[in-house]
Order: sequence, then C-alpha cells, then structure tokens
Amino acid sequence: MDLNSLKKQISDISSRSKHVFDAASSKPELDDIYRSFLGKKGEVNILLKSLGSLPQDKRKDAGLLLNKLKEELESLYTSTSQTLIALVNSERLAKDSVDVTLPGFQSYKGSLHPVSQTIKEISDFFERMGFDIETGPEAEIDYYNFEALNVPKDHPAKDMHDTFYLSNSGLLRTHTSPVQIRTMEKSEPPHRIICPGKVYRKDSDLTHTPMFHQIEGLVVEKDASFAQLKGLLNDFLEDFFGEKVELRFRPSYFPFTEPSAEADIRWKKNWLEVLGCGMVHPNVLEGVGVDTKEYSGFAFGLGVERMAMLKYDIPDLRAFFENDLRFLKQF
Ligand code: FA5
Ligand code: MG
Repeated sequence: MDLNSLKKQISDISSRSKHVFDAASSKPELDDIYRSFLGKKGEVNILLKSLGSLPQDKRKDAGLLLNKLKEELESLYTSTSQTLIALVNSERLAKDSVDVTLPGFQSYKGSLHPVSQTIKEISDFFERMGFDIETGPEAEIDYYNFEALNVPKDHPAKDMHDTFYLSNSGLLRTHTSPVQIRTMEKSEPPHRIICPGKVYRKDSDLTHTPMFHQIEGLVVEKDASFAQLKGLLNDFLEDFFGEKVELRFRPSYFPFTEPSAEADIRWKKNWLEVLGCGMVHPNVLEGVGVDTKEYSGFAFGLGVERMAMLKYDIPDLRAFFENDLRFLKQF
C-alpha cells in the first residue's frame, strides 16, 4: 500500500461515517456502528495494521492522518449519542405527559363513627374536669368483673348481667366497672378517672345490643360525696344534651355502690335509662386496700349508644352496628 491509497481510504471512511452515524436510530445500533469503525476488527484498526507496509518515511504522516480520523469518529460518536438520548427523552416526555385539564379522581373522606364521636365528646368533657383516661381488658376474669365488685360467687345479681363466658373460665366483661378495681389496685388514691370501652351482654332489642360501649367514671377523694356526684352528672348531661332534656335520678341497686341511682332521660313518651351510679361500696374500697376512714368514692357507668341515640334521635340502637353507610353518613 502507498500513502495516496491510504489517504483515499481515510477520506472515504470520513465521508461515509457521517451518513452511517446519522442513520443510527438507537443506542445499541450506534454502538455497533462505533465498533465497525473503531473496534478491534474495525476499519481504522485494519488500516493501522497496514502502516507497516508503507515506506519508513511515510509512516509518520500516515499515523497522524489515522489519529485525526480516529478523533473525528470519536467525536461523531459522542455527538450522535447525545442527540439520540435527547430524542428518546423528548419522546418519553411526549408519551407520559399529563393533561392537567382532566378532572381529578374523587377520593372519599372517612369520618368518625357516631359512637366514636360520642365517646370523644364525653371524654373531652371529663378531661376538662380533670379526669384521666384509663383502659382495661375486654376479656376479664370473674374476680374483676364480679367478685372484687362485691358480687360474691353464686350471687343472684350476676343474673342481671347475661354474661358471655369464655372456654378458659374467663368472660367478656359485662361492664367497664372492673377498671375501677384495676385502677385502685395499681395506685394510691386520690383517683379521678374515666374509662371508655366495649362491653358485652346477651341482649338484643330496640335499646339493647350484645356489644355496646360504656364510659366508667371513678372518683376517690378525701370527701367525695353523693352531692358532688349528682352535681357532676347534672352538669355533664346538660352540657351533652343542652338544656332541652328532661332528666330524672331514681334510686337503684348495684352491689358495688351504696346508695345507688340510675339516671333516665325522656325519650318520646318514655324514660330511657342512660347511666348507673352511686357511692363506691366500702367492701369494694377495703378489698383493694383503700382506707375508708380517710377516703370515700363515687362511680358511674354510662351507656354510650343510649347517649348517642337520644342526642341524634335514632329510633333503633342496632342501627349503630349494621354498618349501613347511608345511616353512618348522616353524622
Ligand atoms: C352497669 O353496667 C354498672 N356497671 C354501672 C355503674 C357503674 C353503676 C358504676 C354504679 C357505679 P347497667 O347494667 O345499668 O349498669 O348499665 C349501664 C348503662 O349501660 C345503662 O344505663 C345503659 O345506658 C347501658 N346499657 C346497658 N345494657 C345495654 C345494652 N344491651 N345495649 C346498650 N346499652 C346498654
Ligand atoms: Mg341499669
């Protein structure tokens, strides 16, 4: 080979390469083209190998020319690959673009169940009055649900509560009153707590459901009195219902309070019972080691669904638990 024919081949590659690179439509295709010129078996390398067959004094010029060609091809490769990337990006952008004028997806807002709302409202009132919030287990043992509350084994008062018994001799608590005992066991008086929670009884009609919610209240102080209890509950019921309700306290019986009362609220033509209350029985206080010469206590337990039913004028308590959204959405 002589220098002239090498020059001819170099200029041929140079002009051809522009079209070839230009035609590349993807990165892999571009890389193949690169290798066909600059790879180990590429055209430029073949020419480099043929340098040895040139006369000694022409080799240097030929080498310079080949290097220039290499640089030219390298920069052609770089610029083409940049163009390709920009193209791919803009195609993707065009494909994925967002039409901001389309209507959005409707998302549905949840809201609190009326029972949860009522619990929150009642708890807020008692928190303002300085009560702490306690909790206790829904699966209880006889001791906390009955015995420590002055309901001895085989006492007929147990029949007042249609208890669900568990197979392991436990039971589902029939009221939130066991939390009174757990609270007094845990710490020394004074106590001022409420405990909202689920309770269970074999009961179902317009004003009873087998699972319902109670809020227990317990105050143990140096001179807690029945007058304070009545005053507190009066304030609470007026706050909750506004002054429009008719309220009456009537004497009642619970083994764990003495004296005991229940409060009713006028509902249509009848009275509906909303809570039980009384002075904590000395047997209960002494059972958990509270000195009854120093402390006295009062307690109450109110039915959350009954409160909600009256406030929102719902004719059937069971509606709270049928999960009919048309019903629940009204609150
Ligand atoms: C008790 O459960 C007592 N532990 C309350 C108490 C606490 C008295 C502290 C004294 C001191 P009673 O069984 O009456 O009492 O239930 C209390 C309230 O729960 C009732 O007034 C009523 O509002 C509500 N209630 C009772 N049974 C049901 C039921 N099946 N469904 C919905 N609410 C109910
Ligand atoms: Mg009752």
